[in-house]
Amino acid sequence: MPLPELCTETEVAELVTTFYAKARDDAILGPVFERHVGDWSRPMPKMVAFWSTALCGSKSYRGNPMLLHRALPGLTHSMFEHWLDLFHEAASALSNRPMAERGGELAQRIAQSLRVDYQLQREPDRIPASPPRRAATPRSVPVSA
Ligand code: HEM
Repeated sequence: MPLPELCTETEVAELVTTFYAKARDDAILGPVFERHVGDWSRPMPKMVAFWSTALCGSKSYRGNPMLLHRALPGLTHSMFEHWLDLFHEAASALSNRPMAERGGELAQRIAQSLRVDYQLQREPDRIPASPPRRAATPRSVPVSA
């Protein structure tokens, strides 16, 4: 359940900016974003709205990520895992630890739904691969006071 007191819009924007800077720079995911996102000023507010709705219940997001990802060609199980690795990295840089934990859990669950939907729509005859392996932000990440 989203929690209004979990984080501020500024913290959500920080998480989203850090994550997409990594994703755009990444050897595996960068080319996908390069192909499908020309002008980043369009999707960034959508992504901030998505995470502020998911984390804090702002209800500012309008859209359908499932349909949008279904339309992207060539996504693989390992790309979803890699996306999650980068998200956990970005979340681990946040000083707001409850937000980082919750963000990691939500990302995990949403990634799994997107991936299973993608596979069912694109390759309905294939047995789904097992879910991405991590459940939350790794415990080795230092927790600030
Ligand atoms: C294989 C992994 C993924 C890749 C390569 C990927 C790629 C993309 C791309 C290219 C777009 C922009 C599409 C467009 O504007 O036409 C996009 C949008 C978006 N992605 Fe992903 N994505 C991945 C996984 C995820 C996951 C796991 C989440 C959430 C946990 C997510 C959340 C979003 C959101 C919220 C948007 C914006 C939706 C909107 O404009 O309404 N993505 N993604």
